[in-house]
Amino acid sequence: MRLECIECGGKFKIHERFYTCPKCGGLLEVEFEPSELKRRLDRKRLRAEPPSVWKYHAFIPILDESKIVSLGEGGTPLYRCDRLAREVRVRELYVKFEGANPTGSFKDRGMTVGITKALELGARTVACASTGNTSASLAAYAAKAGLRCVVLLPKGKVARGKLAQTLVYGARTIAIKGNFDQALALVRRICEERKDIYLLNSLNPFRLQGQKSIGFEIADQLGWKVPDRVVVPMGNCANIWAIYKGFFEFDAVGVTKGIPAMMGIQAEGAKPIVDAVKGGLDKFKPVKKPETIATAIRIGNPVNGPKAIRAIRTSRGTAEAVSDKEIIKAQKSMARLEGIGVEPASASTIAGLKKLVRQGAVKRDECVVCVATGCVLKDPEEAMKVAERPRVALSYEEALKKIERV
Ligand code: F0G
Repeated sequence: MRLECIECGGKFKIHERFYTCPKCGGLLEVEFEPSELKRRLDRKRLRAEPPSVWKYHAFIPILDESKIVSLGEGGTPLYRCDRLAREVRVRELYVKFEGANPTGSFKDRGMTVGITKALELGARTVACASTGNTSASLAAYAAKAGLRCVVLLPKGKVARGKLAQTLVYGARTIAIKGNFDQALALVRRICEERKDIYLLNSLNPFRLQGQKSIGFEIADQLGWKVPDRVVVPMGNCANIWAIYKGFFEFDAVGVTKGIPAMMGIQAEGAKPIVDAVKGGLDKFKPVKKPETIATAIRIGNPVNGPKAIRAIRTSRGTAEAVSDKEIIKAQKSMARLEGIGVEPASASTIAGLKKLVRQGAVKRDECVVCVATGCVLKDPEEAMKVAERPRVALSYEEALKKIERV
């Protein structure tokens, strides 16, 4: 196990406390030798246990397992969605519902590993910038571990559910003037100066080691098969890479065969990676003022952009952008056809898939998994805004009359 820079290939010891490459500033990734992974892997246990993040502990670089901080993350449902499949026009469609995690988003998969690493490193305080889900998750896991937690949020731009969680879990919450990208730049500066604070944004390579488990679980729940495509919303662009890495490592040790095409979706008002992928570019141009109803992915300068581009290219996937209108329509379809309540960023996957099928980029006979990253209750204000008002009835007769029109 070692840390490796994805840009210059520099190799570093696994327990070094770097966030980026000390040589060139590139993004770091945890790399295993396939032979080491094969040795660590208990194939019998892999077949017997139900899915959860720690089921796949052989792929997670934690040195001291007695320190694991868990709230029971992972093991989320993979719903087969036949009614939605008919609307989207693909043969086999699944939704991996990450809203079923302890704090209602996929972030918990990364935080169980990130916070455990923080304990291994002897940190007392952890920090992040967030559009809301990372802060809710970090605050919960820090509380469980007895660590202090500091979060920087864009003032007035965080969905209510996420803000409420962050506050009630007891994080020191600082609302900054500016957007997520500016909050992240600030917290990075703070953690450079205050070495006692451990940064747990998705720059931190250890968090992504937990998020790989979305890929592991999809293969596990499909009976050790790999779908043709996996569709993922992209914000700061870590998750698409982590899921790709999960499939890559399963393939490397022979648990499954092949890697699905990774399909990244962004909102039209915040689509730097879509532009880079479509333009055939290796570098992306940040968007100065990102805008979308999907506040989770309202990000103009995704720090993990280079990883996302790599995951998409290597897996022969693609990227697409969707409008807020398309997102809202998909959110309602997921809820009304399948009973899956998601926040707007998650609905972007179904909106994107629909578009890709229409364009012929996804064939109708394919097997596709969409990753629904967060629960509808995260953003109740958006949900109320796009749904119908309740009808008021002041008597039995009135109630009956209103029901009759259903
Ligand atoms: N979906 C949801 C619900 C999210 O909260 C996020 C990111 C993403 C998708 C995108 O994932 O950044 O790995 O590409 N939310 C971060 C946060 C930025 O602060 O909660 P990504």
